[in-house]
Formats: sequence, structure tokens, C-alpha cells
Amino acid sequence: MIISLTLIELFLENNMTQVLVINASIQGDNGNSSALTAHYVSKLSGVSIVKRDLTPNAILSLSREEMRAWMIDASTRTAEQNELAQISDDLIAEVQAADTIVIGMPMYNFGAPSTFKAWVDHIARAGVTFRYTENGPEGLLTDKKVIVAIASGGKYKDTPMDTLTPWLRTFFNFLGLTDVHFVYAEGLAMDKPERVINAAKAELEALV
Ligand SMILES: Cc1cc2nc3c(=O)[nH]c(=O)nc-3n(C[C@H](O)[C@H](O)[C@H](O)COP(=O)(O)O)c2cc1C
Repeated sequence: MIISLTLIELFLENNMTQVLVINASIQGDNGNSSALTAHYVSKLSGVSIVKRDLTPNAILSLSREEMRAWMIDASTRTAEQNELAQISDDLIAEVQAADTIVIGMPMYNFGAPSTFKAWVDHIARAGVTFRYTENGPEGLLTDKKVIVAIASGGKYKDTPMDTLTPWLRTFFNFLGLTDVHFVYAEGLAMDKPERVINAAKAELEALV
């Protein structure tokens, strides 16, 4: 009886919608962007959640040694190279397993936090998440919804000063992810932050 229950649970878990939550605020769970992803998650039910916190130094900048480890045949890797390749393997596996990826994205100095860029550098991997064909690059990730909740002190949406949105869209499209949604909590240093956050939360609810 115990065994069959466990098997049923395993079956259900394997067939559940998987949501990957990525937070990149230096404030951890106290960040405005993290509050937005938490709100989105609070509206979900019957899904399996995987959380990836990109707090400072959670992922180090991509190194030459890591890239080398990716490029050589796995059977010829040293133990150290296996460990290095595992960092990217694990991050990519999380993305591949996800049906929805929801990202808490603080704007720092007009861009993404450096840990998020390190994450990007680890999941963009030729032959694994994209490949070059004679017709150009082709993304190897498909059928995922990506939701990016951007928190910023100022307001730049739909102006030339917003370089974050087009960069993120280009990157996800490059990997084959075209169902990308942006929600903005802008002007947090200008407007009443609570009003801005609540409006963004309402937008996120519409995406559940
Ligand atoms: C290091 C740093 C750089 C920032 N740079 C910008 C910026 O370029 N433009 C902007 O509108 N707000 C900027 N802000 C304000 C943040 O976008 C704002 O505090 C937002 O809430 C950050 O998200 P978080 O609370 O999830 O960390 C910056 C904040 C910090 C700490």
C-alpha cells in the first residue's frame, strides 16, 4: 500500500506543471522583484515549484575552464572538469524541465544584476540550448512561458533608455523561447511604491 501510494505520488509529481522561479535581487526575498514572483507563485495551485536564487556570487562568472569542460567529450573529462560542467548542466536541466519560468528582475544600472548575467552565460550553450545552422542560429528550447517581473526606481518602459527589455527578449528568443511576457513595477523611487507593486501584482495575476 505504501509503495503504490509513493508510485502514485511520483507519477503525479512527474506530470505536474513545473514552474521555475528565478530571483535576482541583492535583497533576496525582500526585493521588490522577489515580492512580485512570490505573488505570482501564491496564485498557483497544483504545480511543482523550483526556486533558483541568484543572490550575489550564487553563480560565479563563467570561466575559461568551465567552457573548456563543456566542449570536451564527457568521457574524457577529469573529475574537476566534471564538476565544472555540472554547474551549467544543472542550471540548464532546471530550465529544460520547466513549463513556466518566472523571473524577478531588478534593474541595476540600466541592466540586469551581474548574477543574472552569469546565469545567462551558463545556460546559453552551443549544441545544448541553441545551435548554429546554415540558416543562422536556432534555439533548442521550446514550449515554455517566460514571465519577467522588472522592478526599477525610474520609468523607462517604451523609451530608448530601456535596454533591459530588448536584451532579455532577444536572449530568450535566441534560445527558442518566444512566449515572453514583461510586467513592470516602475518608478518605485518616484511614485508610491505600494501602488506600483499592487498594479504589477494585478498584471501578474492575469498571466496565471
Ligand atoms: C545598485 C543599484 C542600481 C540601481 N540602478 C537603477 C537604474 O539604473 N535605474 C532605475 O530605475 N533604478 C535603479 N535602481 C533601483 C532599483 O531598480 C529598485 O530599487 C528596484 O526595487 C530593485 O529591485 P529589487 O528591490 O528587487 O532589488 C538601482 C538600485 C540599486 C541597488
